[in-house]
Amino acid sequence: MSHSSSASAAIPADAPLLFFDSGVGGLTVLDAARTLLPDAPIVYAADFAGLPYGAKSEAEIAARVPALLGRLVERYRPRLITIACNTASTIALPQVRAALDLPIVGTVPAIKPASERSQSRVIGVLGTEATVRQPYVTNLAHEFASDAVILRFGAPELVLAAEQKLRGEVPDPAIFDRAVAGLVSQERAVKIDTVVLACTHFPLVQEELARAFGRAVTFVHGAEGIARRIAYLTRGQTFVGNGLRFVATGPASDVVPYMPALQARGFSNFETL
Ligand code: DGL
Repeated sequence: MSHSSSASAAIPADAPLLFFDSGVGGLTVLDAARTLLPDAPIVYAADFAGLPYGAKSEAEIAARVPALLGRLVERYRPRLITIACNTASTIALPQVRAALDLPIVGTVPAIKPASERSQSRVIGVLGTEATVRQPYVTNLAHEFASDAVILRFGAPELVLAAEQKLRGEVPDPAIFDRAVAGLVSQERAVKIDTVVLACTHFPLVQEELARAFGRAVTFVHGAEGIARRIAYLTRGQTFVGNGLRFVATGPASDVVPYMPALQARGFSNFETL
C-alpha cells in the first residue's frame, strides 16, 4: 500500500536523498539511513577537492558549502539534503537553510546522547579542529551536559586515516595513539567513560580508536538519530529505487581507489561535479 500526503504529492518518487560530506565520512550517516529507508534513491556527494574541511576557516566553509549544495540541487533535484559532516553543519547550517528551499538535516556533535550515557560525567569529544572550536559545541555542552566536564580534542589526522582505510590502505597506528593522547593527557581525563565521535569520518576507525584507548569507553555518534530524523521528515513519501550515485568534486581519478569500498556498499554510478 502506498499513500502520500498532500505535501509529498509533488515530490517525484525518484527524487533522491542527497548526502553531503567533504569525503567519505558521511557514509557512516548514509549506512544508518539506508537501514531505515532501504528503497530511497541516494546521491552521495564528496567534496574531495575541498577535503579536509577541518583545516579551513569558518568563512571558507560558510561560502563553499552553500555554493556546492546549490549546484548539487540543480543537478539532482533532491527531496532532502543531509549535511553528513559536523564541521560543515556547525558552521554553515544557517547559510545553507537560507539559500535552499528544501529540508536540510544537519549533523552536530552527539553531546546529548553522550550525556545521557555518561556515569562518570567526564566526556571526551573528538572532532576536527574547526568543529571543536565552535561555539555550537559549547552551547550543546551547556544545554545538555552542564553538570559534566567536556574535554575536546581536534584530531585532523583521523580524517585522513579514515579516508585511507576506505581506499584499502592501512593507516599508521600512531595516528590513533596521538588522537587518544590528545584527550587523555588533559586534566580529569582518567574519568572519561564516553567519547563523542564528532566527525562523521571517525566511526570508520572506531575499532582502531578503541584499541588505542586500551580501556573500556563508550563511543557515541549521531548517525542513528540523523537517520530517524530523515525517516520522520520523509514519512508518507513514495520512493522508487534509482540506485546509489556517488559524485565527487575534483578529478575522476581521485575516486578510483575508493571504488571497491563504494561498490561493496551498493554504489553503481560515479560522477564528478
Ligand atoms: N566528516 C567531516 C566532519 O564530520 C569533516 C572532515 C574534514 O573534512 O575535515 O566533521
